Amino acid sequence: MPKAVKFWNYGGPEVLQLAEVERPHAAPGKVVVEVVTAALNPGEIGIREGRFHAMWPATFPEGQGNDFAGYVAEVGEGVEGFVIGDPVLGFAPRAAQANFVVVGTDALAPKPAALSWEGAATIAGVGATAWAAVEAVRPGSGETVVVSAAAGGVGVIAAQLARLRGARVIGTAGEKNFPLLRSLGVTPVQYGAGLADRIGAAAPSGIDAYIDTFGAGNVEVAIGLGVEPDRINTLADGAAIRKYGVHSDAQEEAASPALWAALATMAAEGKIAIPIAQVYPLEEVRQAYRDVATRHGGGKRVLSIIAPGERRE
Ligand SMILES: NC(=O)c1ccc[n+]([C@@H]2O[C@H](COP(=O)([O-])OP(=O)(O)OC[C@H]3O[C@@H](n4cnc5c(N)ncnc54)[C@H](OP(=O)(O)O)[C@@H]3O)[C@@H](O)[C@H]2O)c1
Repeated sequence: MPKAVKFWNYGGPEVLQLAEVERPHAAPGKVVVEVVTAALNPGEIGIREGRFHAMWPATFPEGQGNDFAGYVAEVGEGVEGFVIGDPVLGFAPRAAQANFVVVGTDALAPKPAALSWEGAATIAGVGATAWAAVEAVRPGSGETVVVSAAAGGVGVIAAQLARLRGARVIGTAGEKNFPLLRSLGVTPVQYGAGLADRIGAAAPSGIDAYIDTFGAGNVEVAIGLGVEPDRINTLADGAAIRKYGVHSDAQEEAASPALWAALATMAAEGKIAIPIAQVYPLEEVRQAYRDVATRHGGGKRVLSIIAPGERRE
């Protein structure tokens, strides 16, 4: 029987089970996708632990994972543009870590052959989020932009998208990720105490825009450096959003298959790299989330649900 990651109560990674589930079928307008890869995101940990219960309550048994890539396995009546066997990527909220997902065509985009399955699984999640965060602050040619946690899942893509808009990018990271950032044309700066001084030293002419993907005082650093609130976006600091009126654009602002397709093409053409920190089989989902919870490591952690040797392309 097909399997899906499920949990029956809030808790640590140990509550996650690989449950046997019925194979889904495609109702009119829907598409069943056989999942090849599914991404893991830190926000999913908060949902599973119950920390976000007031805002995003779980419905038990709850699934895990949003962004995925796979093959179209079944097409419902009235669906156009997709046929069985098509490689696709998409977004299936709290359901993606499974052998099969059911989505509408508004949650599906084609996967280019030249894009890896692991990279494809991240496009509708961190890819879209990075796009929204960069667009919110509109970096321009000749400007200098800071991206916090620039080696993280969102940050590493945001940094590259800001560069493609012609900006110079300073990225905060731990020292072991400095070579990764340099290889992407990003100037690395260590995060933590004294950050504003280090950014000031790296950019004596000032900072034009600030993309915060980590929280922990980055918005205050940006304000202290004289960045206008309208040129700051944070994904992780609700208090700063309320206090300073900075932007908080994220996945929701880029939930568009056309945009995902454009990002996927950029990745397939090598215009942006999608570094993968680690790939885990579905059976190791608990360990994968333990590693995501460390909030360290360069790039994305991804589940491989169909092993490379068993994929059809
Ligand atoms: N609302 C949405 O639609 C949406 C979607 C996606 C993500 N998000 C949110 O966006 C944020 C970023 O997600 P993500 O997937 O990019 O996270 P992530 O990959 O887990 O971020 C890990 C990165 O954080 C860095 N880091 C660790 N400690 C740090 C510190 N004290 N200061 C600065 N950076 C530090 C690490 O750097 P080193 O490895 O170099 O140490 C690592 O590269 C999360 O809060 C997530 O929930 C929101």
